[in-house]
Amino acid sequence: MSTGHGPRDAVDFDHPPADPLPLLERWLEDAKALATPNPNAMTLATVDADGAPSARIVLLRGLTREGARFFTNRNSRKGKALGAHARAALLFHWDLLDRQVRIEGRVTLAADAESDEYFAHRPVDSRVNAWASDQSEPVANRAELERRAEEMTRRFEGADVPRPPHWGGYRVSLDRIEFWQGDKYRLHDRVEYRMRADGTYEVRRLCP
Ligand SMILES: Cc1cc2nc3c(=O)[nH]c(=O)nc-3n(C[C@H](O)[C@H](O)[C@H](O)COP(=O)(O)O)c2cc1C
Repeated sequence: MSTGHGPRDAVDFDHPPADPLPLLERWLEDAKALATPNPNAMTLATVDADGAPSARIVLLRGLTREGARFFTNRNSRKGKALGAHARAALLFHWDLLDRQVRIEGRVTLAADAESDEYFAHRPVDSRVNAWASDQSEPVANRAELERRAEEMTRRFEGADVPRPPHWGGYRVSLDRIEFWQGDKYRLHDRVEYRMRADGTYEVRRLCP
């Protein structure tokens, strides 16, 4: 039974599509249509060398059959965790649509050419600050952060700002994707896709 939360008629959970990718693209489009600031924001969960989990938000910057891509500093805490365990979980929650999407997969580095291309399109201040910030490392105070940013601005004055070698993309393969649509009285709809060796998906409805 429909609650009127979001465009539920977009998915028939009793007859879900065989391919989850167009469905995920559609849900991202639905989220964009809400005009909230970051419809592509997703929680990235990683596990470090000691087996300890941690999570933070990153922005989805590209979705293909190969996976969901985001960009970051590879020396950061998440970068180190992914170096130890190249597996991750991603989570979208679009509250206004009463929807959640969970992705789990293996993590690979995006090619240098992809990272270069994405970096080149960022505003110049963002590019400079990618050099200025040792992401996840301690810094004494705001003034110190700004001093480093000014130093880097001077260093690159009038020149092209190259991509720092430690900055780049990661891709999480779409091994498991779950779509969740809220319904009233907690009788939510869930459908799980698990990728088979040949790239097709086993599809199952799950109890809420
Ligand atoms: C809306 C939003 C978007 C963000 N997008 C990114 C991103 O795309 N890449 C990134 O490295 N950090 C992003 N961050 C910052 C991260 O959440 C996090 O603070 C940072 O990456 C350091 O995480 P770490 O210490 O676990 O490596 C974003 C934060 C928010 C709130």
